[in-house]
Amino acid sequence: MRTILLGPPGAGKGTQAETIVREFNIPHISTGDMFRYNLKQGTELGVKAKEYMNKGLLVPDELVVAMVEDRLKNEDCANGFLLDGFPRTVIQAEALDVVLSKIGVHLNKVVNIEVNPELLVKRAVGRRICKECGATFHVDFNPSSKGSECEKCSGSLYQRDDDTEETVSKRIQVYTSETQPLIDYYDKKGILAVVDGDQPINIVSETIIKVLKED
Ligand code: AP5
Ligand code: MG
Ligand code: ZN
Repeated sequence: MRTILLGPPGAGKGTQAETIVREFNIPHISTGDMFRYNLKQGTELGVKAKEYMNKGLLVPDELVVAMVEDRLKNEDCANGFLLDGFPRTVIQAEALDVVLSKIGVHLNKVVNIEVNPELLVKRAVGRRICKECGATFHVDFNPSSKGSECEKCSGSLYQRDDDTEETVSKRIQVYTSETQPLIDYYDKKGILAVVDGDQPINIVSETIIKVLKED
């Protein structure tokens, strides 16, 4: 299964990815997570990316494309992958097409998670992430049963630097102008599926898995 999760900030891409990659036994490739990991390690790429991320802006295409190309060549992608947060511009989508044709594979489906815009800021601002295992929670919609600790591994939960109301609003604007055109891009290729992301997390997961298995 080679698939992409499209959707605005807070749509539930990362949350849904956790279930989908387990179901299909494929790696979860989140460019946002890769940048955050790089920053934690103090790499040059991480430091550069942070400048853009904390302003709610996109990291320049050439940096992202090189990083993803490298990742897709990894052996664990041989039987498929789930891309989360990439591509995010038409230039990135075209670059991905080139990379995949070089490898000799094609995308099965692109899933667009649609969410009522009014919910997005609430979802992102209330998000909490486990420092140890990366599990995602929400203070109201999906709280950890252990309060400020992760219910899976007891790690402490933190809030992302770019999850302030102001930065989330900027990220949504950038999504609308830069990333939304990709809905049309993949629809024209005949591989787009639209899923209602306003529903509870488990219902959205079931719907996405069903859509992916239709292939
Ligand atoms: P990235 O980390 O990808 O952030 P994003 O796309 O803005 O998306 P989010 O991670 O905020 O949302 P999500 O859809 O994953 O939602 P989640 O599942 O966590 O990118 C960050 C930055 O990195 C970018 O701004 C950019 O600077 C840079 N970047 C990354 N990729 C790039 C690229 N390709 N090109 C250039 N720059 C790039 O859910 C959110 C919350 O809602 C959680 O708390 C969750 O528990 C809750 N929730 C989820 N689903 C539901 C539901 N169904 N009902 C109720 N609550 C729910
Ligand atoms: Mg995410
Ligand atoms: Zn954890």
